Amino acid sequence: MSFVLRFLFWVMQKRKESLFYLYTMKLLIINIKQLLQVRDIAPAMVIGSQMKQLPILKNAWLLIENDKIKDYGTMKSQAILEVDKTIDATGKIVLPAWCDSHSHLVYAGNREQEFVDRINGLSYQEIAERGGGILNSAKKLQKTSEEDLYQQSLVRIKEVMLLGTGAIEIKSGYGLTTDAELKMLRVAKRLGEDFPITIKTTFLGAHAVPNEFKDNKEGYLDLIINEMLPKVAEQGIASFIDIFCEKGYFSVADTNRLLSEAQQYNLVPKIHVNQFNALGGVQTGVDHNALSVDHLEVLTKEDIEALKGSNTMPVALPSCSYFLSIPYTPGRELINAGLPLALATDYNPGSTPSGNMNFVVSTACIKMNLTPEEAINGATINGAYAMGISDSHGSITKGKVASLIITKDIPSYNYLPYAFGSDMIDKVIVNGELI
Ligand code: NIG
Ligand code: FE
Repeated sequence: MSFVLRFLFWVMQKRKESLFYLYTMKLLIINIKQLLQVRDIAPAMVIGSQMKQLPILKNAWLLIENDKIKDYGTMKSQAILEVDKTIDATGKIVLPAWCDSHSHLVYAGNREQEFVDRINGLSYQEIAERGGGILNSAKKLQKTSEEDLYQQSLVRIKEVMLLGTGAIEIKSGYGLTTDAELKMLRVAKRLGEDFPITIKTTFLGAHAVPNEFKDNKEGYLDLIINEMLPKVAEQGIASFIDIFCEKGYFSVADTNRLLSEAQQYNLVPKIHVNQFNALGGVQTGVDHNALSVDHLEVLTKEDIEALKGSNTMPVALPSCSYFLSIPYTPGRELINAGLPLALATDYNPGSTPSGNMNFVVSTACIKMNLTPEEAINGATINGAYAMGISDSHGSITKGKVASLIITKDIPSYNYLPYAFGSDMIDKVIVNGELI
């Protein structure tokens, strides 16, 4: 093979986008029974009673050009198009791929022994006090090479794409040393470069206080602020800053301090708050214009008031509640109060060893009393907002990224949450690529 041909082949393999400059790939989906979440002009998020509305086009077609949604319409109005590939979606539903705005997908090893310990009576907090929990994962991750961590994590990335996730946020927080935190973020970034899925990264150095700082939490916060934050910012490997605001972890004052410091680096807050105790961290998040406040299993009237009129998205993580047998986020109450709600997995080795957004959507309907429309809005457009990408993801809108789920032949979209535990996905397209 001549050098030129070999070079072109290498470019095609290495960076598929490069090919797009040479040739426009056209993929047409026809006979779609229901095209969901169709928004000619997409809102940044949907709130309160709007969440019950899920705009639909029946008997539709959709055209993808390269990695973008080019056009869509009803079959009656379909012009004859020259395309590279046509998918017949007769009997099937097409919707935007899931936007999972909260995950800890980069981790080393697992913690199935703690799962058994909990069955035998220990609580999540007791396990953490005995050196299990986040510190257990940090110990494993610190000893794991960057390449090994990447290999372990790519299995999970492939898994979530097949489950219909087109965009995901990934946090650090199992490193707890400068080197290990940076290693996690590099791995998350590399996954985003090597796979079509959109990845947004979050620096969560303040996930737990490591043993070396057991009696010196301030010292650990100093390390985060004076050493980790500047390096994360300098290397440009995170968009967001997170902290676990909880008894036994970090206080509201710590949260205030960290978020104030992070501001100079333009790291936008997305915080873990109100998982076990309502300490007032929701108000602190709102005061710092957090993009999202996540968990909220324990929520007060004051927290709900604090969220009203803010730009902060409340995020529920129902698989975490399911796995730990803790209360579910009162999503119904939040929506009834006129607020938005996003749904995410929290995929991590301790509290949620599952990255399945289909289960999240089902569980939100079954346990949080959300309607299928509300749950789908929460897992698409509102999830995109909670990652700062709702201008490009989360709805069927011309010009948005072509990340889609094509279901199996199902009677209606209600069947998706109804048939919990069954795989209703036929195909997944992520950034224009058939997975
Ligand atoms: O979001 N709550 C804090 N962090 C994770 C779980 C951490 C762990 O147990 O490893 C969460 O649930
Ligand atoms: Fe989490």
